[in-house]
Amino acid sequence: MIALTLAEIAELTGGELTGSPDATVSGKVTLDSRAVADGDLFVAVAGERVDGADFLAAAAAAGAVVALTTRPDDALPCVVVADPVEALGRLAAGVHARLVDRGLLTLAITGSSGKTSTKDLLGQVLASAGPTVSPPGSYNNDIGLPLTVLGADEQTRFLVLEMGARGQGHIARLCRVARPRIGVVLNVGSAHLGEFGSPDGIAQAKGELVEALSEDGTAVLNADDPRVIGMAPRTVARVVTTGRGTDADVRAVDVTLDETARARFTLVAGGEAHPVALQVVGEHQVANALSAAGAALAAGLAPADVAAALSAAGPRSRWRMEVARRDDGVTVVNDAYNANPESMRAALAALAGLAGTRRIAVLGAMAELGPDATAEHERLGRDAAAAGIDLIVAVGPDAVGITDGAAAAGRRAGEESVHVPDRATARELLSEVLRPGDVVLVKASRSYGLEQLAADLLAEKDAA
Ligand SMILES: Nc1ncnc2c1ncn2[C@@H]1O[C@H](COP(=O)(O)OP(=O)(O)OP(=O)(O)O)[C@@H](O)[C@H]1O
Ligand SMILES: [Mg+2]
Repeated sequence: MIALTLAEIAELTGGELTGSPDATVSGKVTLDSRAVADGDLFVAVAGERVDGADFLAAAAAAGAVVALTTRPDDALPCVVVADPVEALGRLAAGVHARLVDRGLLTLAITGSSGKTSTKDLLGQVLASAGPTVSPPGSYNNDIGLPLTVLGADEQTRFLVLEMGARGQGHIARLCRVARPRIGVVLNVGSAHLGEFGSPDGIAQAKGELVEALSEDGTAVLNADDPRVIGMAPRTVARVVTTGRGTDADVRAVDVTLDETARARFTLVAGGEAHPVALQVVGEHQVANALSAAGAALAAGLAPADVAAALSAAGPRSRWRMEVARRDDGVTVVNDAYNANPESMRAALAALAGLAGTRRIAVLGAMAELGPDATAEHERLGRDAAAAGIDLIVAVGPDAVGITDGAAAAGRRAGEESVHVPDRATARELLSEVLRPGDVVLVKASRSYGLEQLAADLLAEKDAA
């Protein structure tokens, strides 16, 4: 974080300071007392299992200069606030405003699927032009976003933020912490449909990003998604469209996939055309790359530089189409970070495009789909069958609809489509059936923990 005195922190957060106002935070901001180092600010948040306020002495011993907390402790100066998370947001807002005055350019990304993937591409593209803050991972909520903002300092030229929403008003709130100059909307799918009620409800929430932009800003909208391009009237900012169609401002033509399911295409923008060869896996990354390109061009980068930087950008965040090959020639694709109907289809398409003898999809359930959950799992099973997947393994009780759907599409139960009760059984089954040349996709919603299954599958043959 930029250096701030305790007086400034108290003022920005609206908290009451115990201790000397002149001490300065010179380090980072953290919620984890175990991560505290000399000069840091410790934010004591009450979680489900532990209350950060119980760790003030530990934070002080580790070198924290001050704590944002509801309950002060004599161990160190404290800024006492009613709600530390809200105070963290206020602190970030204050710091963000100062940095914007000094020329920081903030870009924010939202959408149902691909926020982190796009943020990682855009972060790498912008880093080719100047100091960029865009941490790996999915820091897209009321805690992660302010922490990302506070990672920027006077040297930072570009700040790339991921914005997630679990309800109406969430993105508007994140935009009050850090109002972006450039806002990117990727897609409106069915992630968290259960909470939003309908895709239109999701579009309403995601569109809060473009409503927050000002007239000198740019909205980068995916023209291939009607609900996204439908947000254009909701912004006073300039609109840049991205997509595969001929009328998009920033588009991909001549898209091909190589045998590792990596896309190549020609990036057409601003009257120029430049080749792109992505390092990240899956055709869905073309849309993400176009959105990143639209944002980078709006930030002032030249099309040729954007194309070159996109081609050089690698995967940054774990468990998203992470492809690894075992010594015995089995390829494991770990896409177990999360799942919803759209990202499942994207992953199945990528699996179908990967070179191999047999393609095996090990799929857990998709969480938070609301009343459509059963139908969506059955549809997924039918889609997996239609994608030509040789063996479908559905893991866990909530995933049984997948095998039902596969059976309805003609897959022989117990042979081409198998339901197993848990991860351990899935692993046993796979140990028996996997042969050199097989490609195995592992994917489910995060709460099902299938990334561990992917890790176990990889460890099996490394150990052998
Ligand atoms: N444009 C896209 N369309 C469909 N699926 C995608 C797209 N981009 C990424 N995915 C898939 O969606 C999953 C999540 O990707 P990513 O982490 O980038 O999304 P996210 O929007 O950040 O998710 P979260 O809401 O959990 O933060 C991955 O499995 C990835 O393969
Ligand atoms: Mg994310």
